[in-house]
Amino acid sequence: MYKVLMFFSTLFLSGILGAADPLYVVKDGKVDAATEKGFKVWRASACERCHGNNQQGLVGPSLIESLKVLSYKEFVTVMIEGRNAKGMPAHPHLNKVDEKTGKKKVDLLYAYLKGRSDGKVPKGRVRSFEK
Ligand code: HEC
Repeated sequence: MYKVLMFFSTLFLSGILGAADPLYVVKDGKVDAATEKGFKVWRASACERCHGNNQQGLVGPSLIESLKVLSYKEFVTVMIEGRNAKGMPAHPHLNKVDEKTGKKKVDLLYAYLKGRSDGKVPKGRVRSFEK
């Protein structure tokens, strides 16, 4: 009985902890360290060449709009595999884990872009409050 209780309270706790671990955090115009890293991945990958400096869209679609409808899974697929025939290159290197945060680059990018799409993460160079 005790074990069963432990099992359920662990489930319950991980539910709470999961909820306390949001994709991104914004405080006074600054972001958490992982989201800042996501911005750096965005810059390093030169996505703005096709999607615009502020994700507003250029030859590629507006990612502000796209991230409102794409699921996380769809996002990862289009990032890693690309849609070459339609002009979206594959970015397989984004599967690599970033050493500092321990997260995959594609996940850092997803969090940053989701925050931009939600209108929460400011445009341009973002800085972290975690320093
Ligand atoms: C050479 C130009 C180019 C570059 C560089 C590029 N993209 Fe794209 N991207 C496109 C085009 C064009 C499409 C639309 C493909 C289609 O019609 O399905 C697209 C589609 C996408 C989509 C799917 C949008 C949707 O609504 O289905 C996402 C997400 C995306 N790009 C993110 C990125 C990110 C993040 C980067 C940088 C790592 C990047 N792209 C780099 C041209 C580019």
